[in-house]
Amino acid sequence: MTEPSMNGTGLHDFPYDQLEAFLDGELSPTLSGSYPVWEAARYSLLAGGKRVRPRLLFAAGALLGPLPKEALPFAAALEMVHTYSLIHDDLPSMDNDDYRRGRPACHIVYGEATAILAGDLLLNRAYELMIRIGRENPLPGVLRAMQVLGEAAGGEGMILGQDRDLALEEMPGERVDISDVLWMSELKTSCLIRAALLMGGCLATAGDGVMDQLALAGTAAGIAFQIKDDILDCVSNRDTLGKTPKKDQLAGKKTFVTMVGLEGATALLGQKASEVDDALDNLKAMACNTASLESLMRALLERKN
Ligand code: IPE
Ligand code: IPE
Ligand code: MG
Ligand code: MG
Ligand code: MG
Repeated sequence: MTEPSMNGTGLHDFPYDQLEAFLDGELSPTLSGSYPVWEAARYSLLAGGKRVRPRLLFAAGALLGPLPKEALPFAAALEMVHTYSLIHDDLPSMDNDDYRRGRPACHIVYGEATAILAGDLLLNRAYELMIRIGRENPLPGVLRAMQVLGEAAGGEGMILGQDRDLALEEMPGERVDISDVLWMSELKTSCLIRAALLMGGCLATAGDGVMDQLALAGTAAGIAFQIKDDILDCVSNRDTLGKTPKKDQLAGKKTFVTMVGLEGATALLGQKASEVDDALDNLKAMACNTASLESLMRALLERKN
């Protein structure tokens, strides 16, 4: 299992064990008997993973004071949506990756059809959970957080980004521009990273000024996250990464590294990091407690997997 290397990043209030237990509970159906689709969903969701998006949600939720109690179920829903996207991303018809989170990919263990269904199950379960919390506690911030995740994960968000990624893969390199890769990355990766921050903001009933800065920070941090992912694909190894390295170029992927090289990608990463810093400075000027978010952002840039 991949070491959850984001632990010890200064986000002392992040309830790692509580989130793992909550995810386990949400993936424990009331049915008797065992079913491959449930086993496959549990296999991927409970395989570790850095839990980056839940951490971001908590750090944003903590900007304005004590964390709202809905943070845990909403962080869990977000992680379910993210894990579904990874299961589908690894399928032979998408990135055809056989290793994920330090273990064989879902479809390698359970077969392609069950892996597709396991992704569907996680996606649906996320909305079942959010709707349940929304019915118990129909506060405007709770309903708004549901909408934020729905839109970020959807056909004008992450799903469209995955569609663009596959389309760019088929195109000859000379027909693709760095702006295409920026837009694709903003959709496939920034949408869920930004949603994490915005959901934290919604649940903490942040005002428009704070929400605007969270959106700016999330967009830049998401692109930085994808640039780092592309760099790690190129320079890391399987044990550290928990996935198969050096696949992007072979597959014809249009990544920041295949487009502008390692040096160009590193320079762009620096630019995006300073955009994140600007947004954090603005949040600080609005009397937000940015300590957790700052240390988390630094850990994301310095991560090894
Ligand atoms: C991988 O996300 C997919 C990208 C958006 C680059 P993570 O690096 O957060 O993967 P896990 O959750 O730790 O496995
Ligand atoms: C995936 O990007 C983004 C998703 C929305 C899942 P990648 O295809 O680069 O992610 P990895 O490298 O497989 O984790
Ligand atoms: Mg992909
Ligand atoms: Mg992939
Ligand atoms: Mg990648």
